[in-house]
Amino acid sequence: MSKKTVKDIDLKGKKVLVRCDFNVPMDEDKNITDTTRIIAAIPTIKYLLENNCSIILCSHLGRPKGEFKPEFSLKPVAKELSKILGKEVVMAKDVIGEDAKAKAAALKPGEVMLLENVRYHREETDNDETFAKELASMAEVYVNDAFGAAHRAHASTAGVAKFLPAVSGFLIEKELQCLGEAVNNPERPFVAILGGAKVSDKIGVIDSLLEKVDTLLIGGGMAYTFFKAQGYEVGNSICELDKLDLAKEAMEKAKAKGVKLILPVDTKVGKEYKPDTESKTVPWTEIPADWEGFDIGEETIKMFSEEIKKAKTVIWNGPLGLFEFPQFSVGTNSIARLLATIDAKTIIGGGDSASAVKNAGLADKMTHISTGGGASLEFLEGKKLPGIECLLDK
Ligand code: 3PG
Repeated sequence: MSKKTVKDIDLKGKKVLVRCDFNVPMDEDKNITDTTRIIAAIPTIKYLLENNCSIILCSHLGRPKGEFKPEFSLKPVAKELSKILGKEVVMAKDVIGEDAKAKAAALKPGEVMLLENVRYHREETDNDETFAKELASMAEVYVNDAFGAAHRAHASTAGVAKFLPAVSGFLIEKELQCLGEAVNNPERPFVAILGGAKVSDKIGVIDSLLEKVDTLLIGGGMAYTFFKAQGYEVGNSICELDKLDLAKEAMEKAKAKGVKLILPVDTKVGKEYKPDTESKTVPWTEIPADWEGFDIGEETIKMFSEEIKKAKTVIWNGPLGLFEFPQFSVGTNSIARLLATIDAKTIIGGGDSASAVKNAGLADKMTHISTGGGASLEFLEGKKLPGIECLLDK
C-alpha cells in the first residue's frame, strides 16, 4: 500500500471526518437487509475511538440526485451503528447545514456522529470545491474508508482531500491488499470467472485479466454475445449485437496470450422471463429460436469445476445465470459451493457475485469478498480510483 493509512499519522484526540460506504440495501420498512458494509467500517471507527478521536461519519445512500428525500435518509444506518458500537451515534439532520455544523462543533473525543446523505446535495457528485471545503471545515483529518465509492470522484470521496490531511482506513487498505495481491502476484494457476449480463460492462476487466490469468471462464448473460460472435443463434437470449467485435477480439487476444478462454458448452433455457417458466438444458449450439438462456448447464458446471479445482487463485465477478430465480441459480450456486471447498485464494468481486455467495451462506468460506461492486471492477480493470489517488503518499 503506497498510501498513508490511519496508522501513519497522528490523529490522537483529533476531529476526524470519515467517508464510509453505507450504501446498504433496505426493505420497504427501511430495515437494513445486508449489514456487511456497516460491519466492514467498524475496525477503523474502533481504532479512531481508541485514539480518542471525535468521529464525523459521512456516506451516500442510493441516488437522491441532489434532493432531500426522506426515503434516502441514513437514519437506519445510525441506529445500526449505535447497536454494533454499543454507543449512541448522533444523527445530523443535514450535511453541511446548521444542525450538522453545530453537532460537529459540540462533538467530544470518543463521540460519534453521522451526517445525512451527502447526495442530498448535487454538489457532492459534481465534486464542487466549495461543498468539499464546507465538509472539511468540520474536521482536522480526513479518512477515506469507502472502498465501494472509491471509483467516484465526488466531493466527499476525493474533493475533500484538498483541504485536510487525507489517509485511508483499514477497509480500503484490506481491499487493495487482497485484490492487488491476487491480480499482481497470484499463485498459479490463476483462474478468473466472469459472469453478468453484458460484455460492455466487463470488457475492460476481460481485457486486463487476459494479461494476467491462466484461464478465463465466461458465463452469465454475456456468454451469449460470445456465442453470437462465433456465428451461432442465441434465440431470445440477452445479446449485444454491437459488441460482437469486442467478443471476437477478446477470443483472439486469449489465443495470442496463451490464456484458456472457456465458454459454456450447454445452457439452461427458459420460455419466458419468470421464475416458474418451462425450462430445459440444450447444447449451446442448439438454442431454440423462441427460448432464452438463463443459466449454464450441467456439462458446463462440470467443465468449469475441473478448471477451478486446479486453481491456486480464483477471482470471480458476476453471476453465471439468473440466480434470483431458483431454477436458474444452479450454475452460480454450484460454483459458489465449489469455491468454498478448494484449497486456493478465493476473491469475490462485490455486487451480484457477493450477494450470491452470501445468499448461499458461504461468505466466511472465501478468502475475500469485496465491498465494492463498480469499484472492484474498475480496480480489476487497472484503472486508478480517485478516492485512493487523493490520499497522502507514504
Ligand atoms: C455501490 O453500491 O456500488 C457504491 O455504493 C457506489 O454507488 P453508486 O454506484 O451509486 O456511486
